[in-house]
Amino acid sequence: MDKLVIEGGRQLRGEIAVSGSKNATLPIMAATLLAPGQYRLTRVPNLMDIRTMANVLRVIGAKVEQSGHSLLIDTSHANFPEAPYELVKTMRASFYVLGPLLARFRRARVSLPGGCAWGPRPVDLHLKGMEALGAALTLDEGYIVAEGQKLNGAKFFFPISSVGATGNVMMAAVLAEGETILENAAIEPEITALAEFLLQMGADIRGIGTTTLHIRGADSLQPIDAEMIPDRIEAGSFVAAVGVVGGEVELTGANPDHIHSVIHAANQAGIEISSRGHSLQIKANGRPAPLHLSTAPYPGFPTDLQAPFMALLSVANGNSSITDTIYTDRFAHVPELVRLGARINLVGNCALIEGVEELQGATVMSTDIRASVSLVLAGLRAQGRTEVLRVYHLDRGYEKIEAKLSKTGARIWREEGTL
Ligand code: EPZ
Repeated sequence: MDKLVIEGGRQLRGEIAVSGSKNATLPIMAATLLAPGQYRLTRVPNLMDIRTMANVLRVIGAKVEQSGHSLLIDTSHANFPEAPYELVKTMRASFYVLGPLLARFRRARVSLPGGCAWGPRPVDLHLKGMEALGAALTLDEGYIVAEGQKLNGAKFFFPISSVGATGNVMMAAVLAEGETILENAAIEPEITALAEFLLQMGADIRGIGTTTLHIRGADSLQPIDAEMIPDRIEAGSFVAAVGVVGGEVELTGANPDHIHSVIHAANQAGIEISSRGHSLQIKANGRPAPLHLSTAPYPGFPTDLQAPFMALLSVANGNSSITDTIYTDRFAHVPELVRLGARINLVGNCALIEGVEELQGATVMSTDIRASVSLVLAGLRAQGRTEVLRVYHLDRGYEKIEAKLSKTGARIWREEGTL
């Protein structure tokens, strides 16, 4: 398994291009099952998770070709409504195919996703939403088996704001008979992008971008081409990178409107950010100021940036705290950051961070996508050499991060690992 090696202490200067959004592309790939035909998706990030979703679509009978940052998907002959455990266990977002399979084929056999590195991640709201639309679901050897008649529109309230459940149920509803009203729907930009993709396909969805979606079922939809939105979590991770080690970087191809909460937090930490069109100019020097952060559903501070900002606050000139209200156990990166010299104490779902002047390089272990990038960021600052093992976690969510960072002056490279 590969590892990333970093010689810390070099400021970042130059330009970094933000890739297309992983978390917008994955549900949109699932949505291509809703209408037979050819789809061309552009600005698709070249990531492990995209390749996994492509394999899920292939099992279902779709043709998928990726060339560079374009995906050509042909679902004309998709006819096998199954998503196997071997694939779903490697990427939970495979579960997004449940709604489209139900809507188009009226039956599905989709493996329940397992847990993930930081704990259980239920899909009960996905299932309750499908049942509200009339799907008959049973659990058979770890698979959700759905034998739905034609789905019927319904009113459904999400007791928790859920990105995945909102996307899955919305995709089921666009071909259901009659009107569906989804209340307390997630409004993350990735869900708005999915809703707009469905609208272009001919779906009737009103209230896009709000927490109440009115959907009137269509008889059929049409295949379309679309460009993916920029990855706001990647952009926020690079904001934290500049803050950790200092420098001046221009982030191109970003969408500042998707990261107001991140820009606000970075400004409070003393990181200067200005935006011009789709570029962000980021400037930082010395140690960041301490912060007290709490994650929240969009437009609040994203849970996916909790770990990267913890690396930033590890070297703040004061005491900080980060509370994760979305995933109360998403702290597998804490003991690894402590190995680099960070002073962090966990009290329930709150990390108390005593900022230190310097970190010291060490060998550390990745456990999940965002934990691994927080270790890379800490390594950029740490004195000496840091080795981040099992970077396949990183490769799931960050396209060529070592190339992007070394282009701006970081000493970072990939080596064959043994562990
Ligand atoms: C999406 O996951 C993202 N993944 C995650 O990013 C992100 O952390 C998460 O949203 C929160 O923003 C993709 O978009 C592919 P949720 P998702 O349903 O949809 C609870 C990354 O690093 N919940 O919004 O699975 C859940 O336990 C990944 O790119 C239920 O209780 O997240 C959590 O506490 C990691 N029942 C909260 O809702 C359900 O049926 C939010 O989860 C579903 C969720």
